[in-house]
Amino acid sequence: MGNGMWVVAVFVSCCCLFTSLQPVISGCLLDGEEAAALHTLKASLLHSDINPPSSWVEGNDCCSWEGVGCSSNTTTTTSSSTTSTTIDTTNTSRRVVEALHLSRFAWPYTYPLKQWHLNLSVFKVFHELRHLDVSGNNFRRSLESLDITGLRKLEHLNLSYNALEEGRGIPTSSWTSLSSLRFLDLSWNRISGPFPSGKKFCIHL
Ligand SMILES: *[C@@H]1O[C@H](CO)[C@@H](O)[C@H](O)[C@H]1NC(C)=O
Ligand SMILES: *[C@@H]1O[C@H](CO)[C@@H](O)[C@H](O)[C@H]1NC(C)=O
Ligand SMILES: *[C@@H]1O[C@H](CO)[C@@H](O)[C@H](O)[C@H]1NC(C)=O
Ligand SMILES: *[C@@H]1O[C@H](CO)[C@@H](O)[C@H](O)[C@H]1NC(C)=O
Repeated sequence: MGNGMWVVAVFVSCCCLFTSLQPVISGCLLDGEEAAALHTLKASLLHSDINPPSSWVEGNDCCSWEGVGCSSNTTTTTSSSTTSTTIDTTNTSRRVVEALHLSRFAWPYTYPLKQWHLNLSVFKVFHELRHLDVSGNNFRRSLESLDITGLRKLEHLNLSYNALEEGRGIPTSSWTSLSSLRFLDLSWNRISGPFPSGKKFCIHL
């Protein structure tokens, strides 16, 4: 094989690697990470023998899935070159998830009890999330497995009716990064506190 062929081969294998790391989910107009997380949520519901909402169809835009609220995030970049006196601005628009209303998937709490088997670190990729309601899902996980580090815009968090155990509590790093949190509902879990101080919001226990 000549040198040229090697270059082509390396290039092709790099492309394959790149595309395999970036899941391409047809129809979903969100960035790879957020789209992949929504599909993880759906897969985990099926794995837990819970029917996802009927609108959660592969191939449809994920933002039209019931309970998923999206908004548009526009960032403006400016560039100027030394040869020109004009400044170019480019607006790039992408869609982001700002609300997840995923409540009562394990409802009603009648026997046999349903339980949503979900790795609670899935939510950390939704960086623009403002509203997260995952109440009534009977997660039965430890609160310390809830990894919501970096959700700086999160204002409303409803974790009620989930049989969450306290464990070592929400990790401090997660907790301190929730700088916009106004409302936290932790009722109907197996948690007794104490809670980190210095935060001002309503807590329902
Ligand atoms: C848009 O996204 C950027 C980068 O993630 C973020 O810093 C900014 O706050 C977002 N803007 C809005 C209006 O959400
Ligand atoms: C980018 O957005 C700003 C503010 O919304 C607007 O004034 C400007 O005209 C836009 N620029 C382009 C190139 O679309
Ligand atoms: C949950 O997912 C994270 C990666 O997102 C992984 O590091 C962790 O081990 C998982 N936890 C469990 C209990 O599977
Ligand atoms: C939290 O969720 C529970 C169960 O879905 C609901 O009854 C409660 O009203 C919610 N709390 C708030 C403040 O919305």
